[in-house]
Amino acid sequence: MFDLIVRNASLPDGRTGIDVAVRGERIDALEPHAVLAGAAARREIDAAGMLLSPPFVDAHFHMDATLSLGLPRLNQSGTLLEGIALWGELKPHLTQEAIVERALAYCDMAVARGLLAIRSHVDTSDPRLLAVDALLEVKRRVAPYLDLQLVAFPQDGVLRYEPRRDDPSCTLTAVELLERALDRGVDVVGGIPHFERTMEDGRESVRLLCELAAARGLRVDMHCDESDDPLSRHIETLAYHARRLGLQGRVTGSHLTSMHSMDNYYVSKLIPLIAEAGVSAIANPLINITLQGRHDTYPKRRGMTRVPELMAAGVPLAFGHDCVMDPWYPMGSGDMLEVASMGLQVAQMTGQAGMRASFDAVTETPARILGLEGYGLAPGCHADMVLLQARDPIEAIRLRATRLAVVRRGRVVAEQRPATSTLHLDGRPGQVDFLHRR
Ligand code: FE2
Repeated sequence: MFDLIVRNASLPDGRTGIDVAVRGERIDALEPHAVLAGAAARREIDAAGMLLSPPFVDAHFHMDATLSLGLPRLNQSGTLLEGIALWGELKPHLTQEAIVERALAYCDMAVARGLLAIRSHVDTSDPRLLAVDALLEVKRRVAPYLDLQLVAFPQDGVLRYEPRRDDPSCTLTAVELLERALDRGVDVVGGIPHFERTMEDGRESVRLLCELAAARGLRVDMHCDESDDPLSRHIETLAYHARRLGLQGRVTGSHLTSMHSMDNYYVSKLIPLIAEAGVSAIANPLINITLQGRHDTYPKRRGMTRVPELMAAGVPLAFGHDCVMDPWYPMGSGDMLEVASMGLQVAQMTGQAGMRASFDAVTETPARILGLEGYGLAPGCHADMVLLQARDPIEAIRLRATRLAVVRRGRVVAEQRPATSTLHLDGRPGQVDFLHRR
């Protein structure tokens, strides 16, 4: 007797008519329906040919700021710099309880969307480390239903941040604050080299943060070159230190938007260096298309990094959500299919392979970047999955498909009724469900 069987599912790799059987918290068997037809389970879900996927993974988010839209005021220009200024205005008024409350509310949305693993940056440029303690508390509380991985993010620049000498409780440097965050249990070392005062300081910040990560055996994920300046080349330094310190497979460059504007000849050298260093990349299409190109009139740059070219070079590339209803972005709802949709459209990846790669960029690839154990649809993996009202990954992205069932460790944690619309038209069908009838 199994605990759960999902019958007649289609899988992201194209297999159809598959039954997935769960015992306890793990997938026990995954076979064509004929093999498991006689098996019994305490609960059965009829997938009816719909797509069963491993859960969505968001490799880049800011959970300390999420759902704070309008506090203390709205971002009028919509720019990255006004967003950073606004966050600075909000920080002194934050309370741990309010951060925890908003983060938990976002995690509720995430679970409903089948998003069961999130890497969130947490601002360490705060002598109280309020957001760090808040998100560590959230990480503990959501652990039964969501994997939350935290990145120590020196938002104000690890060298640019200035301790306040006038207040004895605020004398720690940015590096000391970041190390305290790691001591308390934050998982990954972050950075923001393009925000340091000079290119030289940016390079120095990359060196010292990579060395700090290597000494502690941690992963690295830096906001890197989130700029339209083609001369912002900190990704080159990040790849250099990743290779020098033997951190291959453990280092990520987030955003990399300057690459959109770089000289093509330089990029022809840069991308192989990124691949050689085993550095992965995260594009944040909703935010990049919104925040980049702001100084342009027309033509206006898209600003997203060179996604198909990085993928073609074998660089693991994920799409992240980055922001939902915060000082930088007033939209979003934890829907990684919306993220994938924007990603493939901004990157013009509307070929079949490109669209499938976009689905991987919000599932398998970010799971690898986070180093998630037991992720995937195979015997022995965690019984974490999402049943979508779509037949394949491309249809799922097109429809931002309804999450019919979300399963975490063998337990159904969210359900939604299929999206159908009733029509009242003479001579036409009574219902529309938006699926492609082949
Ligand atoms: Fe970010």
